[in-house]
Amino acid sequence: MTRVAILISGGGSNMVALAQSMTGDHPARPCLVLSNVPGAGGLAKAAAMGIATATVDHKPFAKDREAFEGALIEAIDAHQPDFLALAGFMRILTPKFINHYAGRMLNIHPSLLPKYKGLHTHARAIEAGDTQAGCSVHEVTAELDGGPILGQAHVPILPGDTSDDLAARVLPMEHQLYPAVLRRFVIGDRTPVILP
Ligand code: GRF
Repeated sequence: MTRVAILISGGGSNMVALAQSMTGDHPARPCLVLSNVPGAGGLAKAAAMGIATATVDHKPFAKDREAFEGALIEAIDAHQPDFLALAGFMRILTPKFINHYAGRMLNIHPSLLPKYKGLHTHARAIEAGDTQAGCSVHEVTAELDGGPILGQAHVPILPGDTSDDLAARVLPMEHQLYPAVLRRFVIGDRTPVILP
């Protein structure tokens, strides 16, 4: 059975969607949920679903990214994942980490990449006067939010939308998109998923 480790930093709603999708005839199962934030809400959700959890707190490593990532790799590889899914994981990863999981790591980003890489994506789309927003699942490469796009979901931006309104409209689409992309990715199918 193909094994998927999921990395989170917060509530883990995408992690829950991914874990819930990996049942029945799905070729993969979650083997670990790891957070860089001790006590992140998603850890309790994962434990309640019977998924192994781990925490590697980035704070003790201060600016030493390499040391933090070494501890991260050790904690992750102890569970022997075949693939990694970053799901609300809020640390920037160095080429060392990315190369270690080259071709096996996905991320979800709350914008229609290549637009709005980085943070505050919804506020930036509203500010720009865009009429459409959404989310993207991409393969993780050394370029931040820049790897090959494997799926996108689109939602309208409505007059008067706040960034919270837009986030609330995009998040459920993330929960549809990410599992659909992962299911293809773990069997080597890179056909993009486009929603709706
Ligand atoms: C989501 O907007 C996701 O796109 C971004 O982090 C946010 C929180 O995700 N990566 P989650 O609820 O922790 O999965």
